Amino acid sequence: MNIGILTSGGDCPGLNAIIRAVVLTATRKGHTVYGFYDGFEGMVQQDCTQLTVEMVRSIEDRGGTILGTTNKGNFGTIGSLKEPDQEALNSLARVKVTAQKLNLHALITIGGDSSLRIAQWVGANAGMNIIGIPKTIDNDIQHTEISVGYNTAVATATDAVNKIQDTGASHKRVMVIEIMGRTAGWLTLETAIASGADVVLIPELPFSYENVVEYITAHQSSRTHACTILVAEGAHAMTDGTTSMHEASKVLTDMLMKKGVDVRLTVLGHIQRGGQPTVFDIVLGSKLGQHAIEMIERDVRECAIMVQNGNLVDVPIKELYAPTRLVPPEHDLVRTARGLGMYFGE
Ligand code: F6P
Repeated sequence: MNIGILTSGGDCPGLNAIIRAVVLTATRKGHTVYGFYDGFEGMVQQDCTQLTVEMVRSIEDRGGTILGTTNKGNFGTIGSLKEPDQEALNSLARVKVTAQKLNLHALITIGGDSSLRIAQWVGANAGMNIIGIPKTIDNDIQHTEISVGYNTAVATATDAVNKIQDTGASHKRVMVIEIMGRTAGWLTLETAIASGADVVLIPELPFSYENVVEYITAHQSSRTHACTILVAEGAHAMTDGTTSMHEASKVLTDMLMKKGVDVRLTVLGHIQRGGQPTVFDIVLGSKLGQHAIEMIERDVRECAIMVQNGNLVDVPIKELYAPTRLVPPEHDLVRTARGLGMYFGE
């Protein structure tokens, strides 16, 4: 069989481990794998290469993706659950030509929820089977308890926060640190627990600026130790309508400064998406890549591989047409953080 593979959406550590597993498993079974460059753009432009065992040797611990990726791109309307625009329809026509020319039996798409929705639409309209592999540092894809890249991002963010805490402690400063995660607080919450933050603000638990400022000024007045405030990029206040991304960390830092608090803001940014994947992500990526080839051989169609109770489960991609997976307010991680004395600003 001829099998295509592409990486789509924001990159993350562990993508190369998936690609390696797909190529090694497929090649051993006599299949041919075509790697498309820069996400769906590679299918539109017929920009691809036949991936060989030699090409994927020892790539599993490299950050990024050897195939490149594109966020949204030509099929942005589909990813955002809108009607296809002219660009999407034109691109689909070109994808069909690519799929026919290479006689593609299936396309493995490694992506977040919007990339997997794009894949499902493209596959259904281009007569190609689609197998989805979930990846994102946000860990916000429905039906899977873990996505490739998340474990590494928690480790990277924790390492960065620990370093910032060292300097914060020396100067007895309040260190505000903004963490990625889009509308979900998973990455911020696990990083807070792992690094021992004092305050953690996540989108799922709207907070009060006044409460946080009061908490910090009371805490700081003792001048005994520094404070770490982790703010998810999507965190927002209960009442004042600050809902845009990245706003909360800046507004809070300004308010603390105005109160005379010695405060510094660090936006961790894309450091959280790069670097060598953890062993966990390499192993998870390898399992998912191997499983994807098994699914294609079993003729499973239009499904993504999800992790549920530690098991790999084939879930129809159509079921991803659902809201993203957010932290339930009573989740174990929330209870753990509260138990450790962390303040959520409510
Ligand atoms: O979805 C992954 C992610 O890193 C989010 O956490 C973040 O909001 C977004 O991508 C950033 O995207 P970009 O790299 O396009 O700025």
